[in-house]
Amino acid sequence: MTLFPEYFSGPLGESLLKRACKKGLLEWEFHNPRDYSQDRHKTVDDKPFGGGPGMVLKPEPIFECVEAIERRKGKGWKIVLDPKGHRLNQTGVQRLSKKKHLILIAGHYEGIDQRVHEQLADEEISIGDFVTMGGEAPALCLIEAVARYIPGVLGNKNSLKDESFQLEGLEYPHYTRPRQYRGFGVPEILISGHHKAVAQWREKIARKRTRQRRPDLIKYARRKS
Ligand SMILES: C[S@@+](CC[C@H](N)C(=O)[O-])C[C@H]1O[C@@H](n2cnc3c(N)ncnc32)[C@H](O)[C@@H]1O
Repeated sequence: MTLFPEYFSGPLGESLLKRACKKGLLEWEFHNPRDYSQDRHKTVDDKPFGGGPGMVLKPEPIFECVEAIERRKGKGWKIVLDPKGHRLNQTGVQRLSKKKHLILIAGHYEGIDQRVHEQLADEEISIGDFVTMGGEAPALCLIEAVARYIPGVLGNKNSLKDESFQLEGLEYPHYTRPRQYRGFGVPEILISGHHKAVAQWREKIARKRTRQRRPDLIKYARRKS
């Protein structure tokens, strides 16, 4: 649900998402709350009660838009994209990939009337500790991340195995041809042909990177085990 459905036509019409849609692995629809506004100006926002800057998305067009979707398509898991929501991570992405029908609600301006958050949404999700202009880019991030877990969407399902956040940290670095570029080579071990040594090197580098860049992930992994 977005005030700017056109926003999505580029990204969803390219590459793996386009192919997944063609193969019938994924399906999406765009709904504009403006189409559910009852007044003749098709108003979807209004000034905040209590004052303050910006405009707030009104509850009625959003409730009515979502209800119309659910009447046609059945119940969905309703997510409001919101910087105040809980932060999305890979575990959350995997959980969402098991749901059949997601309804993503993108806000704009100062945000959405709180009654949508409390009375309509099943979940509020943030994609990180920063604020974007609208919920469209956050919704796209969520769609891409979730789609990767739908069987058949990725060309090689092993791509998901060793990935960053999948185990307990960040992934190891990748190299490809040429062996030398502008005087910079690739680590000898990767061209040694010793699979066990390659695996050990990758694990060591991945741990080092995680320790340096994201020590929080190591702590998290320890807490889980
Ligand atoms: C400009 S933001 C509103 C920010 C809000 N006034 C605040 O301080 O929390 C407009 C919309 O962008 C989306 N948005 C912005 N940052 C986001 C984030 N980090 N994660 C998810 N959605 C976000 C939400 O849908 C939000 O309603």
